Amino acid sequence: MSELQLSDVRKSYGGLEVIKGVDLDIKSGEFVVFVGPSGCGKSTLLRMIAGLEEITSGDLTIDDIRMNDVDPSKRGIAMVFQSYALYPHMTVRENMGFALRFAGVPKAEIEKRVNEAASILELGPLLDRKPKQLSGGQRQRVAIGRAIVRHPKIFLFDEPLSNLDAELRVHMRIEIARLHKQLSATIVYVTHDQVEAMTLADKIVVMRGGVVEQVGSPLELYDDPANLFVAGFIGSPKMNFLRGVIEPGDGGEPHARLPDYGDAKIPIKLKQAVPGAEVTIGIRPEHFNESGSAILDLTIDMLEHLGGETFAYARHGKGELVVIETKNGRGLKSGDRVAARFDPACALIFDASGKRLR
Ligand SMILES: Nc1ncnc2c1ncn2[C@@H]1O[C@H](COP(=O)(O)OP(=O)(O)OP(=O)(O)O)[C@@H](O)[C@H]1O
Ligand SMILES: [Mg+2]
Repeated sequence: MSELQLSDVRKSYGGLEVIKGVDLDIKSGEFVVFVGPSGCGKSTLLRMIAGLEEITSGDLTIDDIRMNDVDPSKRGIAMVFQSYALYPHMTVRENMGFALRFAGVPKAEIEKRVNEAASILELGPLLDRKPKQLSGGQRQRVAIGRAIVRHPKIFLFDEPLSNLDAELRVHMRIEIARLHKQLSATIVYVTHDQVEAMTLADKIVVMRGGVVEQVGSPLELYDDPANLFVAGFIGSPKMNFLRGVIEPGDGGEPHARLPDYGDAKIPIKLKQAVPGAEVTIGIRPEHFNESGSAILDLTIDMLEHLGGETFAYARHGKGELVVIETKNGRGLKSGDRVAARFDPACALIFDASGKRLR
């Protein structure tokens, strides 16, 4: 049962700092997913954990032992990459056993571990095939098999499914979730895929520009983002952001006036509502519903009918598009003018710096 800790971990290439002080605590058996825009440092952080990149400063500990200067092969870690080059001239069995043979593990033990991994990954019947005789998903399973046979304390995955087609990704996603349960493994996983992050993670780490923006369970991040960046990053389609100005209200509750929406007013509840402050109001597409008391006057620009639900892309005048999710959208047409209603209690409010106001 291992535990991984990063304390003020930094990485610079020459004078350029790309990881800017990351603190993170990963518990034994946890499935942790790193997400964030391209170039934010996800792979770099993962490679530092693996020992493939030197840590410029800060501490990496596994089971309370400092690992900064420990050889990658002695960290108890196995990494699976996006490009999982298998040796083309070796069979599946040889590919999976290669690292163990290289490390001088006895033959009988290698065979036992390869068979064990093959049974977990349902690769038994394919053990004597060469990689070119396998489908993409099967090759990916062999790459994971190579990691499993090493009995690592921690698995690191860097976008392992991004080379697969949509259907295979779904299949492999379920396989990885099953693997996590079956091995009670600690997994750190990098992905660009919202659904992978939301469904696989016990804990999501949202990164931007070498900094951790927020850490939490998928639904914590979705329901309770700490800032505008996390609110916009988690969720698909994205949260709608409307520009607002706080006004005191006539003796009653303060409200936000929305200058881009015909000065629509929505009541807001904030501990500190500073009149005149410019804010951003965040509303998720699914928070629009017919019984909401806040109303936006919008014209539908485009519709996406997915069968079970419809996404309406609508705007006020020439303003930004607002995405509305509805179950009853089959009768809508582009050009329709709608009074889009939402419950103001669902709206999230952010100050000019992007910080969430509560
Ligand atoms: N060897 C290197 N030398 C200089 N800069 C590097 C090096 N490797 C990575 N970087 C820079 O470090 C930053 C983080 O890169 P990293 O590969 O960790 O991003 P990422 O979050 O994994 O992105 P992606 O989602 O595109 O894979 C980037 O700005 C990248 O250009
Ligand atoms: Mg990367």
